[in-house]
Amino acid sequence: MILYTLETHSILEKEIIKKTQAESGSFFEKVFNNGEYYVKLNQEVKGKKAVIFSVVTEPKDQVMKILFLINALKSNKATKIILVIPYYPYSRQDRVHEPGEPISAELMAGLFHGAGANKIVTLDIHNRRGLGKFKKYLLNIDTTELISENLKKAIDSSWVVVAPDAGAKKRASSVAKHLKIKKVAFLKKTRPKPGQAKILEISGDSVKDEKVIIIDDMIDTGGTLIKAANFLRERGAKQVMAACTHGIFSQNALKNINQSVIMKVFATDSLPINQSGSGKLVNVGCGDLLAKTIKKYA
Ligand code: R5P
Repeated sequence: MILYTLETHSILEKEIIKKTQAESGSFFEKVFNNGEYYVKLNQEVKGKKAVIFSVVTEPKDQVMKILFLINALKSNKATKIILVIPYYPYSRQDRVHEPGEPISAELMAGLFHGAGANKIVTLDIHNRRGLGKFKKYLLNIDTTELISENLKKAIDSSWVVVAPDAGAKKRASSVAKHLKIKKVAFLKKTRPKPGQAKILEISGDSVKDEKVIIIDDMIDTGGTLIKAANFLRERGAKQVMAACTHGIFSQNALKNINQSVIMKVFATDSLPINQSGSGKLVNVGCGDLLAKTIKKYA
């Protein structure tokens, strides 16, 4: 097996190469004067299985790079092409919310598959159904067990698990089940403007005088998390922690989390995070899980 990376997350990339014992591939890249992008594989891939381990940190440019790499592998006769993309870009644009919008999540899958990827492996995709007819090419790795086992260091079965919005219900419930937590609360969230979050109401178990853990698939600006944490404290929660799969932490997310009522945030290393940015972050390593999956399916 030959494995290519985008060189966007050196720690995780090195861990994956070591644990899968894959041959490390490389490629030449350049941008032409007119802005068009070019890649060329540096080695023969004919007859080999190939993995593109893609940690996407700048979707606009990197999606194009991934597509060219996939197609270069296909044109050069790799026998199987697996795209491993821990954070699936555009996953939140999984349906038409307002007339005129594309379904970007489905489009991404169509492009990856169309370019030549036989399988797309990701971690906790926002919504599998958002891939439409291409979901059959997706292998979604569930991080419930990984996150729950790490949470055991900080919480016990007396805590309340909270879903900060409708999309997080299933995820929060499965973490609660894994941790044998009986109490689960669900928040209703709206977005008055893109990027802004507002919590409207709570249902399920009471959080008054309870310690609570908020479970989400991703923390981007941190708006959802901080609004949810404040709302829970106003409803009487005495301690708030959080866990997510993908720590995007855009804009001032880490600074805002530092200054918030949240005690700790558990996040996997699916994306590179400047750990010095927040003393509240607890790293959950996902390299082992990814490497095992790659070895199993490649
Ligand atoms: C939305 O449905 C997601 O599950 C997250 O709640 C959301 O994307 C987090 O974004 P932000 O941190 O910017 O509120």
